[in-house]
Amino acid sequence: MKAAELFDLSDRVVVVTGAASGLGLAISEVVAANGARVVMLDIDEAALGKAAATIARAGAPADVFVADVGEPGKVKAIIDACVGKYGRLDCVFANAGASGGPGYGKPEGAAEAASMELWESCLRVNLDGAFLTIRAAAKHMKAQRQGSIVVTSSVAALRASALPSYAYHAAKAGIAQVVRVAALELGPHNVRVNGIAPGPFKTNIGNGRMHTAEGAAMFAATVPLGRLAELDEIKGLALLLASPASSYMTGAIIPIDGGTQA
Ligand SMILES: NC(=O)c1ccc[n+]([C@@H]2O[C@H](COP(=O)([O-])OP(=O)(O)OC[C@H]3O[C@@H](n4cnc5c(N)ncnc54)[C@H](O)[C@@H]3O)[C@@H](O)[C@H]2O)c1
Repeated sequence: MKAAELFDLSDRVVVVTGAASGLGLAISEVVAANGARVVMLDIDEAALGKAAATIARAGAPADVFVADVGEPGKVKAIIDACVGKYGRLDCVFANAGASGGPGYGKPEGAAEAASMELWESCLRVNLDGAFLTIRAAAKHMKAQRQGSIVVTSSVAALRASALPSYAYHAAKAGIAQVVRVAALELGPHNVRVNGIAPGPFKTNIGNGRMHTAEGAAMFAATVPLGRLAELDEIKGLALLLASPASSYMTGAIIPIDGGTQA
């Protein structure tokens, strides 16, 4: 089989949450470039408009929806509308997320100082948001007896460190376990559920600290490859998981982390 056929997404409908920036935008770009109709969802209306324009300039008009993934009913209504419009839902990337502040490496991230407000908002977007997205997709994918759900977890789900917050570790570990349970439930319906566990990528997460010299150096020091990842470096794994090339993969949490798991 030729690579073009193995990774072909022609006529597929792919929903991406957190699509306005960083990994979600890179994922939207790669699925659109390989033939999919991409449905981009984000809470940031201005950034989402710019992101969709980038995709459209590359020749693949996208549908856009402004919504908070943590708000019950919102993602469901959008996914229901997509299925109503296109009659199918092939892949959903539950990718929207936020950092929940610094880890204990900074005084404000220490256990006794960490903000409970940030704890709650971090769990809401990363854990509630991803589960609400899985729920909304599962119903349609079960009915059509096919689909792929990809959740953005983190290396913080697999090992502890001083850099991300307590809340972020908890949310990303929680969602990794939700992925495994969903893979068990949905496998008999021919629906696959996988998680990706990125190491440090140069995105806007954490108020853009990956773009500061101090932040970049701090994170790069934790990585055997000795550098942060470029946004394009998520694209191969995203395309694999969205496409028929991964038809026997489910229930996996796949690190893409420059070697930190080694
Ligand atoms: N960048 C990294 O190093 C890294 C590492 C591991 C995991 N991740 C995860 O990758 C995913 C993408 O983050 P990123 O690094 O690209 O950051 P980013 O800040 O560049 O992008 C995150 C996007 O999610 C959107 N978003 C935030 N809260 C939302 C909400 N409630 N509803 C809808 N959209 C919302 C933001 O507006 C933004 O467009 C997140 O789940 C993040 O936790 C990132």
